[in-house]
Amino acid sequence: MYSKLLNVGVFVLPLLVCTAEAAVFKTPFNTNSTTLKKISDAAVAEKAGLEIGVALYFQTNPLGGDNEVVACKINEDGSIGEHRKHRTGGKGGAAPVATSDNDGKIARLQLASTNDALFSQHSVIVNGNYLFTVNAGSNSITMFKVDTKDYLKLTRVGKPITSHGDLPVSLAYSPKLNTLCVANSGKRDGVACYDVDDEKGLSCTDTEPLKRKIGTVKDGPAGTVSDMFFTDDQKNLVVITKGNSVTKDASIIDVYKTYPDEKRKVCVEGVRSTIKEAPLLFGAVQVSPTMIFATDGSFGVARLTFDPKTRKITLPTEEKQEIDFQSATGWIAKNKKYDTVYVTDGKMNRVIEFNAPSGEKTQDQAFLSGQAGNLDIAIGGDFLYTLSPSNLALGSNTSMIQVMQITGKNKFHDVGAYVFDKADNITASAHGMAISCRTRTIKRKETRSLLNYFF
Ligand SMILES: *[C@@H]1O[C@H](CO)[C@@H](O)[C@H](O)[C@H]1NC(C)=O
Ligand SMILES: *[C@@H]1O[C@H](CO)[C@@H](O)[C@H](O)[C@H]1NC(C)=O
Ligand SMILES: *[C@@H]1O[C@H](CO)[C@@H](O)[C@H](O)[C@H]1NC(C)=O
Repeated sequence: MYSKLLNVGVFVLPLLVCTAEAAVFKTPFNTNSTTLKKISDAAVAEKAGLEIGVALYFQTNPLGGDNEVVACKINEDGSIGEHRKHRTGGKGGAAPVATSDNDGKIARLQLASTNDALFSQHSVIVNGNYLFTVNAGSNSITMFKVDTKDYLKLTRVGKPITSHGDLPVSLAYSPKLNTLCVANSGKRDGVACYDVDDEKGLSCTDTEPLKRKIGTVKDGPAGTVSDMFFTDDQKNLVVITKGNSVTKDASIIDVYKTYPDEKRKVCVEGVRSTIKEAPLLFGAVQVSPTMIFATDGSFGVARLTFDPKTRKITLPTEEKQEIDFQSATGWIAKNKKYDTVYVTDGKMNRVIEFNAPSGEKTQDQAFLSGQAGNLDIAIGGDFLYTLSPSNLALGSNTSMIQVMQITGKNKFHDVGAYVFDKADNITASAHGMAISCRTRTIKRKETRSLLNYFF
């Protein structure tokens, strides 16, 4: 294991280091490590304190290979310090794509033009000390416990358990119900739910696990499951499935009522809404009891209205918003501190910020790395992280985690990227991102030379 903050001005890469993991954190080309020092200094000077996550996680998801969760340490300045890999016991996979270009591994990814293997958000999730990941290539789910003294240490709980269908791509966990659900996006599609036990791991609570059926025609990204989450009050499970922008099929949103006091916590009969104005609904976050802020791969963003009484979801015409020059708008994360959401594009180098209550687009930032696309996005306190895997079709052979610091509403900027080396073996099929929700606040100290971290 080796990692180092690379000072762009002074290259100090010891040649003797040739261990398996050799990623480095690189600051943008026109800055140097002084920038990070400034963040630490600002953290000390600021009265309210900076909020910084402790670790982030994603899956390597190698097609047909042994899947691993990569645990990355977040430094006190928001940058990433080191990483460790953990076998999940399952295999990586990708959504099959109907395409003429089918001569090899890359072709199994979305038309070889992007790097999103599963066409989904939330393929890896963290809640408290639990971490869950799908193994898309072996139709299973793995549960880990995160060590609270060493966030890079993960312990597998039980064996990987069947997802009961094909191609599991998205997960949702409710602490109140102590229930995990998985959405299967392949031929045998549907949503299965599990009880979560600290020691025994997962046990399915459904008698007919795929009764919560999707039933779409799948053609590449079209017709596949995009995202799944429990509403903030945990009274509903929301499952989002893409339609088809070519054949003009509507996207589908299924909402399942939950029952905290019964053995089977999630109803098998859902309320289905069809959203024809948004044919490629993708990632979604709830921003108020009645509003879901979603992305659509065919045009931009959509603010959906949720009626908690009828469980119906609609898209008012005026809440559909095009993003100029967008290519594949996908992942979305919300920032409670500023009531903003951030959106990435799988084929473009940029992060766009929207004001959640008004829907207004407020900022648009590119990463100085020039990396061609960003998939999953996660907020860790005052920092934003994106998973930006290599994408040969778009000219990048390098995978990285990119970092922006959020300094206020409408204010965020690139602070660098944790760049994986060839030996790290993080490829285009890497997927998912979850951040340990524990954030630490760096408090003001009398002497500026010493930082104190409170967890
Ligand atoms: C780093 O950048 C700052 C200004 O951004 C500059 O003053 C300083 O000399 C640079 N340090 C190195 C080592 O390049
Ligand atoms: C990279 O990962 C793949 C998939 O698990 C594996 O087959 C291959 O041996 C790995 N390569 C290296 C150099 O570790
Ligand atoms: C990317 O390509 C460059 C140039 O060929 C090479 O030096 C580098 O090791 C490659 N990186 C990875 C992660 O494969």
